[in-house]
Amino acid sequence: MTILFACAASLAGVHSTQAAGRVLVAYFSWGGNTRTVAGQIAELTGADLYEIKPAHAYPTDYNACVEAARAEKNASARPALQGQLPDVSAYDVVLIGFPNWWGTMPMPVFTFVESLDLRGKTVAPFCTHGGGGEQQCFADFARAARVEVGKGFLRSGSGAGTARPQVERWLRNAGLIQ
Ligand SMILES: Cc1cc2nc3c(=O)[nH]c(=O)nc-3n(C[C@H](O)[C@H](O)[C@H](O)COP(=O)(O)O)c2cc1C
Repeated sequence: MTILFACAASLAGVHSTQAAGRVLVAYFSWGGNTRTVAGQIAELTGADLYEIKPAHAYPTDYNACVEAARAEKNASARPALQGQLPDVSAYDVVLIGFPNWWGTMPMPVFTFVESLDLRGKTVAPFCTHGGGGEQQCFADFARAARVEVGKGFLRSGSGAGTARPQVERWLRNAGLIQ
């Protein structure tokens, strides 16, 4: 089932921020860290949230997941996704988040980004990692998006829960909130 729901527009007002245009926050998260950051961004911008879900879920066991992800990366796989893609024509700003997997984006995120027509939109990635930092994540994101992309937001997974002030600064510097 596609999860696509609108946060109340008034939420943005509660935090005295005002998003520049309609914002979509799309994310993939296996362990919840990236979901946490996605939620912070949505709260600050009043964005709609969309969860990127592969048709076949990854194992819940960490080591099994790491192995599955490695095999997909080595095969340059483009795993099928669950549900419908979001209608990005309805948005001015598209922010896409994912964990660093093997130094790059999880393969379903390649499927997702390559499937969208992002021309004419303000686009930027956000990423959580386990100590490796950005590695190829943002470079690969830009290639997959095929448009000019803004500066990405990077946070360690363990720091996701306390990322909100940095998220806010990133959004403000990007001109996405006042
Ligand atoms: C399959 C897999 C591969 C990973 N590869 C890397 C990596 O190459 N570099 C890194 O810094 N962290 C890596 N991590 C750690 C995650 O990027 C980090 O825990 C992230 O915050 C997880 O986000 P999530 O909770 O939204 O899934 C990996 C984690 C998994 C499960």
